[in-house]
Amino acid sequence: MLTAKAFEVLVAKNLQHVRSPIRDLAAVADELRRQGKTILMLNIGDPLDCDFSTPAELVEAVVKAMRNGKNGYAPALGIAEALGAIRADAERKGICNIQDVFITDGVSEAVDICLTALLNPGDDLLVPRPGYPLYTAVLAKIGAGRNPYDLAEELEWEPDVESLAARVTPATRGIVLINPNNPTGAVHSRRTLEAIAELARQHNLIIFADEIYDRVTFDGAGHVPFATLAPDIPVVTFGGLSKGFLATGWRVGWCVVSGPAAAVRSYVEGMHKLLRTRLSANHPVQYAVRPALAGMPQHLPGTMAKLQARRDLTVEWCKATPRVHCVTPKGGFYAFPRLDIPEDDLDFVKGLLLEKQVLVVHGGGFGEQAGTRHIRIVFLPQEPTLRRAYQAIGDFIAGRYGG
Ligand SMILES: Cc1ncc(COP(=O)(O)O)c(C=O)c1O
Repeated sequence: MLTAKAFEVLVAKNLQHVRSPIRDLAAVADELRRQGKTILMLNIGDPLDCDFSTPAELVEAVVKAMRNGKNGYAPALGIAEALGAIRADAERKGICNIQDVFITDGVSEAVDICLTALLNPGDDLLVPRPGYPLYTAVLAKIGAGRNPYDLAEELEWEPDVESLAARVTPATRGIVLINPNNPTGAVHSRRTLEAIAELARQHNLIIFADEIYDRVTFDGAGHVPFATLAPDIPVVTFGGLSKGFLATGWRVGWCVVSGPAAAVRSYVEGMHKLLRTRLSANHPVQYAVRPALAGMPQHLPGTMAKLQARRDLTVEWCKATPRVHCVTPKGGFYAFPRLDIPEDDLDFVKGLLLEKQVLVVHGGGFGEQAGTRHIRIVFLPQEPTLRRAYQAIGDFIAGRYGG
């Protein structure tokens, strides 16, 4: 028998920059759990891990689709009734000049496809810092550059558009906007969005508007879909069922491509090519899209009432706790307080996990620079859990650094 010489299967070089900080810390938590410890998980933005459940009518629609045999591949771009509902919803919100709509396995796959179809090695994309790490990971994977622009805490986490403008280079192809934002909870103002649209016009940039949290806003903060302000520039709006419709595991996301037809034609063809190579997105779950988007979602008022109370509790705790400062989140499931501590944010998070078994994510996990000390708190759990976690974090801070 021939035996292979011992060799190591080397991982692709591009992967050295691919990080998943949220999951990485969860691995340490898993180890603690194996030791019999209970962890308070304030680290993953999955409402289904807490006391939220997918609306029954959406579950019914999917079960019915499965029973009706909708279990083969779907059309590569998605089923017609769902595409129609997404387009109608986008138009209702005021997005015009829509050139294309397609369905993906979550916004995660949409980001992969849209960035892969756009960027060559050497190109760069402006991404918010702090920001959801998926963009950085996909950029690393395809060998394109991450060009970070800062969100300014002193501006309630709005981007400072002047410094954003200064970051544009000849290699820059577009701007990612996450609104409402993960991890800061910011909901960007119309003024900021208009200024960014102007910048995109000046430099021929495409905008990726990640609006997966568009239905999750507090205090009546209105969300302005970016594409409504700029029918004259290429915009890809990301949406899906994961967050506002409480169906993270179904992996239903979509893209609405708007802007001048001539400007986006070949880009859309490129994206279709990639959509066809992966055959189709999950099929039966697409039958939940039309019932989700037709009319006022019944589950939303109750969901938002729970979230608002948990957001308020979180903000009150931040205000009352020495060394903790937090811009009030206006949307999403997250608070991003700054800690007035001498230690690194990662050391803090690890120490907190090991000593108090509370898991949050360090700001560095969202691309923040060394020396900035933020943590991201997911405020999805019920109030008693949040109270216990906040008591533990407060005790940890007082014990480690003094009040
Ligand atoms: C800003 C942002 N975009 C995209 C995603 C991924 O969404 P999906 O579940 O649709 O892949 C998340 C998930 O947390 C997110 O926070």
